[in-house]
Amino acid sequence: MITSTLDLAQLQHELAGKSPRTILKKALTLFDAISISFSGAEDVVLIDMALRLKADVNIFTLDTGRLHPETYRFIETVRKHYRIRLEILTPDHLKLEQLVSEKGLFSFYQDGHQQCCGIRKVEPLQRKLKTLDAWITGQRRDQSRETREDLSEVEKDAAFSTDEHPLIKFNPLANWSSAQVWDYIEAYEVPYNELHRRGYISIGCEPCTRPVLPHQHEREGRWWWEDAAKKECGLHKGNLKPVQSG
Ligand code: ADX
Ligand code: SF4
Repeated sequence: MITSTLDLAQLQHELAGKSPRTILKKALTLFDAISISFSGAEDVVLIDMALRLKADVNIFTLDTGRLHPETYRFIETVRKHYRIRLEILTPDHLKLEQLVSEKGLFSFYQDGHQQCCGIRKVEPLQRKLKTLDAWITGQRRDQSRETREDLSEVEKDAAFSTDEHPLIKFNPLANWSSAQVWDYIEAYEVPYNELHRRGYISIGCEPCTRPVLPHQHEREGRWWWEDAAKKECGLHKGNLKPVQSG
């Protein structure tokens, strides 16, 4: 598929309200240069579903260097369980060395997570996305009222598209609730990150993720020292609403 010839409005209309499998199938049929972005959390369901649709699906994960040991073990479990070639992307060592040498290992608690996420997640993602026409994420509307409630099943990537290189982003789980994801995991005996058994719902890097209490929203366990409206690390910057003036 040549992205510039894609009728995005028509595709959005066609996929609105559709199931994850239907959205995934369409994505994998339309694009060859497409990859699933796997975080090491419950987005594992995307891998399980995609492999039932197509044997050789490309999958990558961003190894920030700061994930929980449980997440590293889980990523390895997934690699072995599905016998997949999982591309593991790492940050640019020069940029990282400069950051941690100048500001230490926990600078995000003082000056926000954007700089560290920029080096550990966004730059490696950007590198990968240059090789793709489309990518697939595990984002869902129910993950954040502040930043994801308007999430579309398919969209032009607002953060990483350029005029020369338009990029399409599929969010096959957009319409699913957490309960549906967990029902799938149970029904198909999909392996899951053991942190989920200990109160973690949304899982990111270890210093920036904590378990939530009953009835707390899952996003409250991420970057808890920051404002809810800023809780996107740059991977999904397009979700952030412009700041209202006045
Ligand atoms: S984040 O931007 O706040 O970190 P979140 O944890 O909700 O994102 O995950 C949403 C989706 O972003 C995941 O389903 C996955 O597609 C992608 N993602 C997040 N973190 C990673 C990661 N470390 N590696 C690959 N993909 C990721
Ligand atoms: Fe750095 Fe935290 Fe972002 Fe991970 S989530 S890249 S540790 S700021």
